This record gives sequence, C-alpha cells and structure tokens, in this order.
Amino acid sequence: MKNLLIAMVFMALAACGNSITDKQKQEYATKGNEISQATFKALSEKLTEQMKLGGPAQAIPFCNVEALPLTQQLSDQYDVTIKRTSDKLRNPTNKPSLRELEIINNYHKLISEKKEITPIVEVDNNNNKHYYAPILLKANCLACHGKVDEFVTVKTDSIIKSLYPNDKAVGYNEGDLRGIWSITFE
Ligand code: HEC
Repeated sequence: MKNLLIAMVFMALAACGNSITDKQKQEYATKGNEISQATFKALSEKLTEQMKLGGPAQAIPFCNVEALPLTQQLSDQYDVTIKRTSDKLRNPTNKPSLRELEIINNYHKLISEKKEITPIVEVDNNNNKHYYAPILLKANCLACHGKVDEFVTVKTDSIIKSLYPNDKAVGYNEGDLRGIWSITFE
C-alpha cells in the first residue's frame, strides 16, 4: 500500500512535468535569442526601407498592415509562437497575458534597482516552454515612439492616433524598456 502511494505521488509529479534541466533551459535561451533576433531583423529591414521611401507617414501604415503577418510568417517558419508585447500598447492585438505583464513589471523593477536584465526561460503547467526577453528603445525608434513634438512630429502622432486611437506607445526615451519578446515553444 505504502509503495503504491509513493508510486502515485511520483506519477503525479511526472505528469506535472513543469521542470526542465539547466541544459534544456540554455538550449531554449539560445533558440529564443536566435528567433527574436531574426524577427527583429526582418521587421527593421522592412521598416527602414519604408522610412527611406516616405518617412513615418509611409512606414506607420505599413507596420499597421505588415507587422503581425510578418511575425506570423516567422512563427510558422520556426514552429513557435512569436509575440511582441508591452505595458504601453500601440496595437491592442499585442495585449500582454498576466504572466507577460508580471515579467515586464519585474524588468521595470530590476531597471529601477540598476540591476541587469536578462532573458527568462520557464515552463508552464501545460509543459509549454516560454522565452521572454526585454525590448529596449533605440535612437531609431524615437520617430514613432519618442516624445510628441520633440521626436514624434505632430503630423506623425496624428497618423498614429488615426490607426491606433488608444495608442500609449509614445513618450519613450532612448534606453527605456519598450516591451518584451514572448516566444512559446509547444
Ligand atoms: C515608423 C514608425 C515606427 C518605428 C520607427 C518603430 N515602431 Fe514600433 N510600432 C510602430 C507601429 C505602427 C506599431 C504597431 C504594429 C502593429 O500594428 O502590430 C508598433 C509596435 C511596436 C511594438 C509592439 C507592441 C505594441 O505596442 O503594439 C513594439 C515592442 C515596438 N513597436 C518596438 C519598437 C522598437 C524597439 C523600435 C525601434 C527599433 C520601433 N518599435 C520602431 C511604429 C514604429
């Protein structure tokens, strides 16, 4: 009887399955890095091209139509779910989950304590692996995410607001935490 109980406890623990070895964590961190960088590269190449062609007036509507399909295309290619999310959203479709919001808030806390922020790998109750990494604001993001009337022109802001009436994603400084990458491996 006692042995049976012990066996059942072991089985229950194994069924939870929400633990991975340090080596696996490292592998997911490497994959997550690679995928987020490839997605960033794909998005910024298109964005830079459109900015050259017609500035924010051309690049913003382009992002509005192309950012999510492009991310989806890379998700299919890598067989994962790639998401960019933020506590100050532009596109409501990118809304953070509770866990993503916790991760963002924790990064804010670490930044305010002047601590290092690094990617996170964890397993959820369904045994899906998650990779999270900070997205920091760079100088070339300011034209569309910086302070209005300083980096974001009033005209650009009105284009943004016409496409995203509830936009919260302006007013950032260079180096600020803009959001996170959230990649799910199923
Ligand atoms: C030409 C204007 C433009 C530039 C430059 C730009 N963005 Fe954006 N950004 C947008 C638009 C438009 C969206 C909404 C895209 C969508 O509809 O999915 C967006 C969405 C995002 C999101 C997704 C979360 C959300 O709020 O919807 C992140 C993260 C982000 N941008 C970060 C950056 C970073 C980092 C840079 C610089 C490397 C940058 N952006 C440069 C226009 C821009």
